[in-house]
Amino acid sequence: CGIVGFIGQGSVQETLVEGLQKLEYRGYDSAGIFVLNDPNDGYLVKQAGRIKELREAVDFDKPAKVGIGHTRWATHGEANVTNAHPHLSQDNRYALVHNGVIENFKEIKEEDLAGVQFKTQTDTEVVVALIAKYAQEGLSTIEAFHKALKRIEGSYAFVLIDEADPETLYTAKNKSPMLVGLGQDFNVVASDAMATIQLTHDYLEIKDKEVVIVTQDKVIIEDQDGKQVDRAPFKAEIDANDLDKGAYPYYMIKEIDEQPAVIRRLIQTYKNDQGQFEVPADLITAMQQASNLHIVACGTSAHAGWVGKTLFESMVGIPTMVHTASEFAYHQPLLGDKPFFIFLTQSGETADSRQALVKVNEKGYPSLTITNVKGSTLSREAGYTLLLHAGPEIAVASTKAYTAQITVMAILADVLSNHDYGFDMGHELSIIATAMESILSEKDTIKAWVDANLMATRNAFYIGRHLDYYVSMEAALKLKEISYVQTEAFASGELKHGTIALVESGTPVIAVVSDPTTASHTRGNVEEVKARGANAMVIATQDLAKEGDQFVVPSIQAELSPLATVVVTQLIAYYTALGRGLDVDKPRNLAKSVTVE
Ligand code: G6P
Repeated sequence: CGIVGFIGQGSVQETLVEGLQKLEYRGYDSAGIFVLNDPNDGYLVKQAGRIKELREAVDFDKPAKVGIGHTRWATHGEANVTNAHPHLSQDNRYALVHNGVIENFKEIKEEDLAGVQFKTQTDTEVVVALIAKYAQEGLSTIEAFHKALKRIEGSYAFVLIDEADPETLYTAKNKSPMLVGLGQDFNVVASDAMATIQLTHDYLEIKDKEVVIVTQDKVIIEDQDGKQVDRAPFKAEIDANDLDKGAYPYYMIKEIDEQPAVIRRLIQTYKNDQGQFEVPADLITAMQQASNLHIVACGTSAHAGWVGKTLFESMVGIPTMVHTASEFAYHQPLLGDKPFFIFLTQSGETADSRQALVKVNEKGYPSLTITNVKGSTLSREAGYTLLLHAGPEIAVASTKAYTAQITVMAILADVLSNHDYGFDMGHELSIIATAMESILSEKDTIKAWVDANLMATRNAFYIGRHLDYYVSMEAALKLKEISYVQTEAFASGELKHGTIALVESGTPVIAVVSDPTTASHTRGNVEEVKARGANAMVIATQDLAKEGDQFVVPSIQAELSPLATVVVTQLIAYYTALGRGLDVDKPRNLAKSVTVE
């Protein structure tokens, strides 16, 4: 979900709706705003669906001094207007927006709020009712807010308006992101600086369980006991121009196209004056002392992690495990005597990954976050950070963050191994940037291939071995998440042990062949599926290509092959979704940054 709030001089409704539009990638099931000019003249608008529908419903001429807005990725309760935020208390005194999940909301409903008639199924309505109840009992708004926060358990980012007071906004967070942006004659709050970057670059971090009182000219941070806390602002380094998709029809294709430039930027950024890759020396020392590396991530980032594992094991010789963050957070396997943790997260905000980091920090293990967002929660809470420098990634389906993550891990492995493992990483990465460009220049070929083979199918398979299997996992995720073709990835040798039963006449099976050691075996598996009627297709690197292969990728260093082969599969997913008339950037049911566990 995404949150934005504004107080002061300016167009409140416009700021809120524009901010929500920028946050739409965080959820787009429903949206709403609440604004206030004079005591008790609150104006609430909610809509199911996208922000553009909200925009049509809002009266932008209505005067307002303060407002809050929310775009929702449904957790508790269906994605309809009733469950959309902001939520009002029964006495209409308070309006609240919320990201996160309140774990004990049923308990609070029964024990503290018996007799209250709720209009929605949301946990949020319970919280706003609780605040109203405490206020009715005689507490001031800030006291009631503090008291409610002590009663609830779970994750939250809240922004609260008291209808009796148009001069104040209240916000608080726990585990979910929230920032306060500082302006002249106004202040803003947002779950992501991206929402309000056109208004200010100066932001204040809020720590878990703090409460912040925001007026037009002042920001007061209080800890959970109500004691004031001093904090210096930081500069959010987002270029507002990067948020524009220009002439591109979708962010996803823009971001796919940016990949060669991102790789070149990373080469430049991480090279020192002697032309060697360099990362902070204390990070290298900490990693060199480790007995085992553990990569923790979700979704596409976890798929990048598998490639990272191969790089760390083959180039550095350090045992590396990859963990799905939501699995790791509560059930840790044996970690080795000196574990070091690498968190891969484009957004730096994913709740599952964050929870795993909380556990790692509790144990005092060293950690590194590799992220695209400077100052993000996981970046702040890990011992070290390396940045992806990929520019904002807006499309829900991640593309350039995946290749940037692999590149940063390759650079890190290069430094860890003292640049000594048989090839020149900087040189090979430049070759890859060029190889990516050559793939990107063949979009028409890929589109024609997709149009002929994937338009009508309900399911598909990607197969490969080792790195080609890891890339297949990402390829399958990309295709299923934006085109809704049920796609699975299989280690091609494993097919015959069960999955081949699913292959029918015409089933698309796409094999990735870039690994010289196993190419002939994978080719054998392609013949096996063909013999059972599959519509088999091959993406191969030049050195391993055969007559009849559907797509040939320039030959590149085998350890880095996913950086090139994945681009073909990203384009396959893009053109499949496009051809099916789907909203490529905003696939159903998903959100880009999932800040609930
Ligand atoms: C969400 C997105 C995925 C992404 C995953 C991890 O589920 O839809 O595209 O890979 O989160 O996100 P992160 O920001 O932690 O890399």
